[in-house]
Amino acid sequence: MTAKRIDGKAAGLALREQVAVAAAEFQARTGRAPGLATVLVGEDPASSVYVRSKGKATAEAGMESFAHHLPADTSEEALLDLVVLLNNDDRVDGILVQLPLPPHMDSSRVIAAIDPAKDVDGFHPVNAGRLATGLDALVPCTPLGCLHLLKNELGSLSGKDAVVIGRSNIVGKPMAMLLIGESATVTVAHSRTRDLPDVVRRADIVVAAVGRPEMIRGDWIKPGAVVIDVGINRVAAADEGKTRLVGDVAFGEAAEVASAITPVPGGVGPMTIAMLLRNTLVAAHRRAG
Ligand code: GUN
Repeated sequence: MTAKRIDGKAAGLALREQVAVAAAEFQARTGRAPGLATVLVGEDPASSVYVRSKGKATAEAGMESFAHHLPADTSEEALLDLVVLLNNDDRVDGILVQLPLPPHMDSSRVIAAIDPAKDVDGFHPVNAGRLATGLDALVPCTPLGCLHLLKNELGSLSGKDAVVIGRSNIVGKPMAMLLIGESATVTVAHSRTRDLPDVVRRADIVVAAVGRPEMIRGDWIKPGAVVIDVGINRVAAADEGKTRLVGDVAFGEAAEVASAITPVPGGVGPMTIAMLLRNTLVAAHRRAG
């Protein structure tokens, strides 16, 4: 391995400590802590783990956590009623509805019901539009975390060739907008991209967010590139019956070529939660004026 292993856990912890200091200052000034409401519908095991860890991190940063857990057969109307209640609750600065929602719900409709000023996921079309047009926005947490790690490694991203693999609303598209904002030259690749290995070989910065285990191989990586791996894929381990987590990048191979690379786990994941707390603080400040 020649690449530096980017420590997202340490960077995430450092951010969380900064947020905790700022949250205490906010409380001293306004008489209340910033508040984050999470909404989980159903019992999806991965979602339950994520929501629990978001609630725990919120409390650890000295913020108020309001956890709402609704049964899987909740009607969309009942969920929308809860969103309206949270929109109107002054103690709540951020609202996070964990995705995916059960199949009988229209997640676009639910996201659109969230007050854009409380949309700490940055998924509301108003925030997506504000990001795309270069206005102040609440920005999705995972791409924000990726950008933070990239700037830690590289300083300025101006003029760098960046390839984002994946075009989702949650990661790929907002990541591309953030990189454009940093004056990188951005290519968004996806499942229909022709000659993907060649496209990736041109990149100084690779952000992989496709959700396919170890799809991006070491010989696709330009020597010296910085590789950010957003993938979290559970695969069978060598031990019978066990599983392990891998990213979208073949880590061992890519680490022979890249200058720096995020591991999975311990790379982007911890940054996502840190940015959620930061977005909650930003929303609290904007609301408190
Ligand atoms: N499901 C997977 N990632 C996310 C996220 O960042 N926010 C929400 N709300 N749901 C998710």
